[in-house]
Amino acid sequence: MKGIVYRGLEELVIENHGMAAWEALLDKHAPKNRVYISAQSYPDEELFAMANEVASILNKPLVDVLRVFGEYLFGYLIKKHSRILEQFDGFQSLILGIDSVIHAEVAKLYNEPNLPQISCEQIDDKHILLNYCSVRKLCFCAEGLIYGAGAHYGMKTQIDHQQCMHDGYEQCRMLLTYEGQ
Ligand code: HEM
Ligand code: ZN
Repeated sequence: MKGIVYRGLEELVIENHGMAAWEALLDKHAPKNRVYISAQSYPDEELFAMANEVASILNKPLVDVLRVFGEYLFGYLIKKHSRILEQFDGFQSLILGIDSVIHAEVAKLYNEPNLPQISCEQIDDKHILLNYCSVRKLCFCAEGLIYGAGAHYGMKTQIDHQQCMHDGYEQCRMLLTYEGQ
């Protein structure tokens, strides 16, 4: 996973629990003197271990922690890549462009990123069917990112995770329902 994702987690943990909490996580789950640089890649295991630890400290299910993290991460990513967002006129066009615009841009900016495959089908003006596939199975993080995008555009968003890779399916299928501006 790219350093930018870890930097997002770092900011979230420090904002809510302080620097000591972040340093404790690093001490336990990353090699000594680890510094995350946005454009560099680090083993996924470090992220998973830290997410698991946060879940156990907060006594919350891992999926909830990943969702909250994803929601925060959306704000963090667009802060760092504000130009990417200029290409969209709202929530719907952003979601439809995750793969073909956003992650395509990421693939140009970052060296060998590990991106999920996301495909969308517009059902009507309130519904999109989104398919997610990745060996990292971070679909709950994807849910959070989608909620983060909804919040950014002031939309009421709902996600029905109809089928999930964690239940053995080849890809996750999520029905997004949204309403707003
Ligand atoms: C990685 C989904 C928007 C940049 C990921 C991952 C997910 C995801 C789930 C984790 C990797 C995996 O699952 O295999 C989404 C969704 C988005 C969204 C659902 C919108 C709702 C964005 C935006 C940016 C971005 C706005 C800004 C540039 C990245 C980067 C990575 C990533 C840099 C890390 C790649 C790596 O570690 O090599 N995305 N994303 N994404 N995404 Fe997105
Ligand atoms: Zn899933």
